[in-house]
Amino acid sequence: MSLLDKLNWRYATKKFDATKKLSDEQLHTLLDAVQLAPSSAGLQAYRVIVVSDPHVKEQLREAARGQQQLTTASHILVFAAETGLDSAYVKNYIDRIAQTRGVDRATLALFETNISNNISKMEDEARITWNKKQCYIALGVLVTVAAEHGIDTCAMEGFDAAKFDEILGLKALGLTTAVIAPVGFRAEDDGLSKAVKVRRPKEELFIHI
Ligand SMILES: Cc1cc2nc3c(=O)[nH]c(=O)nc-3n(C[C@H](O)[C@H](O)[C@H](O)COP(=O)(O)O)c2cc1C
Repeated sequence: MSLLDKLNWRYATKKFDATKKLSDEQLHTLLDAVQLAPSSAGLQAYRVIVVSDPHVKEQLREAARGQQQLTTASHILVFAAETGLDSAYVKNYIDRIAQTRGVDRATLALFETNISNNISKMEDEARITWNKKQCYIALGVLVTVAAEHGIDTCAMEGFDAAKFDEILGLKALGLTTAVIAPVGFRAEDDGLSKAVKVRRPKEELFIHI
């Protein structure tokens, strides 16, 4: 099966088979993919909470309009944006580049200044929105790599972010929930698994100039 075939195979899973759990290897493949996702300036100003605790899943389900994906999935990945992205965060990032690539930190000074200046010009809300956008890119990579490995997902934003933040204690970590993805394996009786994809026709979706 090509990757395109696998993207056709995947669908937003409404009901997972609660008896099927991801192996450690499968989970780590997904986490590797999320880690490798691109982000603006490479900042990755988000963290991802990996929920497997049934009690926490139950609480999250209540804060997500009771959607059953949250309790039937093997794991829930909660993408949470950093709320306090500042020059100290950028400094750490630049230190990491210098160390990882073994380059003189001084050669990165302009890059650091540019990023810090851009960030300081943003209002708090705009900065958090920017970080949330990066979460969606990581989500897209997750969904794609999961499909490649025959793992089901459901991207979801139908939840109460403030309640998620409270349940997961995210405020104290300087984080706020952006988007979530239950992951696992589809239930046999999930009706939508066989539904034909509905997409805008190419002539409507694409504008060739
Ligand atoms: C950002 C985002 C948020 C979504 N939120 C929900 C959700 O809260 N509940 C749900 O059942 N599906 C949710 N979906 C799934 C979409 O409805 C689904 O991806 C879309 O209808 C296309 O169908 P397919 O993914 O099965 O091909 C969401 C998808 C995305 C990308």
